Amino acid sequence: MASPFKALRVADDIYWVGAIDWSVRDFHGYRTGRGTTYNAFLIMGEKITLVDTVKAPFKDELISRISDVVDPAKIDIIISNHAEMDHSGCLPELIALAKPEKVYASPKGVEALRAHFGPSFGSGLELTAVKDGDSLQLSGENAPGGSLTVQFMQTPFLHWPDSMFSYLPERKALFCQDAFGMHLASAERFAEDLPESLLREEASRYYANILLPFSTFITKLFDKVEKAGLDIAIALPDHGPIWRSRFGVIAGLYRQWALQAPTSKAVVVYDTMWESTDIMARAITEGLIAAGASVQVLPLSGTHRSDLATELLEAGALVVGSPTLNNQLFPTVADALCYLKGLKRKNLVGAAFGSYGWSGESVRHIEEHLAAMDIELAGSLKTQYVPGDDTLAQCRALGERIGEHIAKYAPGMA
Ligand code: FEO
Repeated sequence: MASPFKALRVADDIYWVGAIDWSVRDFHGYRTGRGTTYNAFLIMGEKITLVDTVKAPFKDELISRISDVVDPAKIDIIISNHAEMDHSGCLPELIALAKPEKVYASPKGVEALRAHFGPSFGSGLELTAVKDGDSLQLSGENAPGGSLTVQFMQTPFLHWPDSMFSYLPERKALFCQDAFGMHLASAERFAEDLPESLLREEASRYYANILLPFSTFITKLFDKVEKAGLDIAIALPDHGPIWRSRFGVIAGLYRQWALQAPTSKAVVVYDTMWESTDIMARAITEGLIAAGASVQVLPLSGTHRSDLATELLEAGALVVGSPTLNNQLFPTVADALCYLKGLKRKNLVGAAFGSYGWSGESVRHIEEHLAAMDIELAGSLKTQYVPGDDTLAQCRALGERIGEHIAKYAPGMA
């Protein structure tokens, strides 16, 4: 019976042969509410080349899509741009099936693949480390489609040490692994066929939860791409839609996000036991609004940590509230702060607040987390049991103080 999984030609000699994961809802702690894709690409040069594979459970889907174009046994070359398991998960099986002449990866990629699949991975085939400036001829000048060449570019820490790009100058095609990607399962393969608001939402979620800690490397990457003079007509990431006419939009957003510039938005995040920390949050929010800040209030009883991280991508202040529970932070607040600490959002001001019964350590714990994140503390407030009018007035004043600080970042206020 014919397989339902077909390839899609996305450019001359280039086919999408990836997998669509409609059902995944968690990606190591990141809520993937719209699923994802694991993109892999087939380049039909004289040397038939597969760029990346897919997550292991989707091996049959990948093989079916490849088989729609060519017998997988005819693949000559596999390029592994990124060793993370969502792209390398079925590499051993593909190698066993295709018996390629060579598998190419960055030097760190070769190390990572052997660490994942055992030190003997690659024995019996040429597992070759490539570096900046190395290139590979896939078709000669006399081939029916003309010459095809792959140029390799190291992109370390975008977002793993092994990460690299592969560029096909004759097609102006950039195979950019996780960069410019998003977790979005969709029928559409091209960004121009999806609503711009959806693209921005899911691209910002991906950046905030995966790439943010590596923003310095992203800024350097743009310098490197410009210096190399890459002309990009099509960018093919390993997740989500392929970029053609809208590549300039996502590139501009990446440049902006990498700066981590503060904005006039405050994120107020908290949890509560008996509504005391809740009413403190509401009073602080009133002060922020009065001072001209925009506010996003996120009660952790109904907010996922990755949605919080996304809201913080374009913010100027992080205001955190927690009751004290058994001398500790409330568990949801501890979870959120641990997650944010790893993402290292820069250039924020912060504040801590919370209610307590008799020991009251939560605010100090929040302050310690904010200090570890290099967040400048604008103030702290704690209250025993239930906040009275004086405390709520102080909460509003704290909100006003933070709001005045960040309102200067509002558009048109420079
Ligand atoms: Fe999509 Fe870093 O793997």
